[in-house]
Amino acid sequence: MKRLAILTLTGTAALALSAAVQAEPDGEAIYNQACMACHMTGAAGAPIKGDEAAWAPRLEQGMETLYDHSINGFQAMPPKGGALQLSDEEVKAAVDFMLEPLL
Ligand code: HEC
Repeated sequence: MKRLAILTLTGTAALALSAAVQAEPDGEAIYNQACMACHMTGAAGAPIKGDEAAWAPRLEQGMETLYDHSINGFQAMPPKGGALQLSDEEVKAAVDFMLEPLL
């Protein structure tokens, strides 16, 4: 009986864990799909992923502003990179992926 309870508990923990993993948007996949076209090449003057000099003054605005500009657009940066089907959380995950090496 005790053994069964332990099994049930570990099962529940595993389920909770996989749910958490699924709920977390995959920033890399979203970046590759919706952001890379401009942010890998610098198209339209986009700051290139990993280019510290290009990002430094932008990072000074703070992450909240960068999230806001990514979601709502900013000058030549289209809202959500033009991928309007993305949720705000997905866009934020892509921003995190893009900027993580610089933080
Ligand atoms: C059509 C090209 C294009 C696509 C696609 C695109 N961007 Fe951009 N992005 C730009 C350009 C151009 C800028 C620079 C805007 C400026 O400062 O004038 C920019 C700027 C940014 C900035 C900095 C904003 C700031 O306040 O300095 C962030 C963050 C950003 N993009 C995130 C993203 C994310 C995340 C995606 C994918 C979901 C994405 N972009 C897709 C062109 C693009």
